[in-house]
Amino acid sequence: MKQRILFVCLGNICRSPAAEAMMQMLVDRAGLSGDIYLDSAGTYGGHAGDRSDVRMRRAAAARGIEMTHRARQVREEDFERFDRIIAMDDNNYEALFRLAPNRDAQNKIFRFREYLRRHRDWSYIPDPYYEGHEGFELVLDLLEDGCATLLEELRQEVGQER
Ligand code: 4NP
Repeated sequence: MKQRILFVCLGNICRSPAAEAMMQMLVDRAGLSGDIYLDSAGTYGGHAGDRSDVRMRRAAAARGIEMTHRARQVREEDFERFDRIIAMDDNNYEALFRLAPNRDAQNKIFRFREYLRRHRDWSYIPDPYYEGHEGFELVLDLLEDGCATLLEELRQEVGQER
């Protein structure tokens, strides 16, 4: 069965769309685009419809990652549509927990930090919105680390069903 993953941050214009785009590149390269569906959303809806932050798009493009997502707010139906909902920080996690309609939905919520291997000293993906260029580079470094782990987990899940 197709694995459906939703990345969630606050505004859905920096961290989570970058995670989605980076993961999509890894999934495409692994030949798993038919097995894994990716999306992203924000707990705050104020940027709904907007393209990703230009600073995030430029930093991602420099690493060969194209970001085409339009922001949207997370909604209750997402707990039915997705298998894993991955929060960038604890505030996002708590907001998702409050939105989750039942225990099954709560069990789908993860923290991105669980996938970090080389950066285990980071307990969350820091919001780069009010930061300089280094903030966006740090986000991409952390996302590269966690997305590699997530890809390995998904590869096993998808592979076991074949
Ligand atoms: P994101 O960054 O959650 O990584 O998309 C932010 C984007 C916008 C705002 C905050 C964080 N904002 O307050 O508008």
